[in-house]
Amino acid sequence: MASQRRRSSAATIAVFFFLLSLLAVFFQPAAAYYHPQGKRQTVAVFWGRNKAEGSLRQTCDTGDYNIVIISFLSVFGHGKYWLDLSGPIVNGVNFFIDHGPADHYDDLANRINDYNQNIHDPIGIMLTATVRCSYPDPRMKKALDTKLFTQIHVRFYDDPRCSYNHAGLAGVMAQWNRWSARYPNSRIFLGLAAANVTGKNDMVGVGELRRKLLPAVQKTESYAGVTLWNSYYDSLTHYGRYVKHLA
Ligand SMILES: *[C@@H]1O[C@H](CO)[C@@H](O)[C@H](O)[C@H]1NC(C)=O
Repeated sequence: MASQRRRSSAATIAVFFFLLSLLAVFFQPAAAYYHPQGKRQTVAVFWGRNKAEGSLRQTCDTGDYNIVIISFLSVFGHGKYWLDLSGPIVNGVNFFIDHGPADHYDDLANRINDYNQNIHDPIGIMLTATVRCSYPDPRMKKALDTKLFTQIHVRFYDDPRCSYNHAGLAGVMAQWNRWSARYPNSRIFLGLAAANVTGKNDMVGVGELRRKLLPAVQKTESYAGVTLWNSYYDSLTHYGRYVKHLA
């Protein structure tokens, strides 16, 4: 957990590998989790989807993010991605399973947990998940039900049934409340699109975000911050600059 790591070095990078889809992370100690509810000032971002978005270092250096989720590492260990990671520390694995069968992700989570029990690092590899907003996400249900996941990033975009611009506040909250009720010991992130992609238009206006959406989710004790999809879009819109003050 980043906040417990208390590394004085500004940022640590975490990534993962054998996972099918991907993962990641980098941390700055977040002041965050001490408030029972309200703002966490924690913003996570997906990085690695577009060459034009800049290097991982540049992304970290914007100062707009506390966590960078490196996506997607879909090949097990032989990816060139490792060339980009020299210097950052790997401390988390994010399960982002968007294709294929749901089998064995629970086994994988248990394996990683076993590994954590057997090493001396008190933190180990943190398990996190990225899920679709409509509860449950069938590919991740078994894995999440192991209750081993520290963070759950819920994608409130790409699905008109539960993205704010299409389903309204009530549509978001109906699902948000299910995720937070089902996994009360996980920290839940509100996943948002950082640009209005043609045909989707899932980017929530800053005014709506500040006045309506964030105050609603921030009432939940396990609310942990905002996750932006993705750093390339954010490099175009600079949404994260606003979001970090509100999250
Ligand atoms: C994105 O598009 C939707 C639908 O047109 C609109 O409601 C929303 O305000 C747009 N977001 C931004 C940030 O402009």
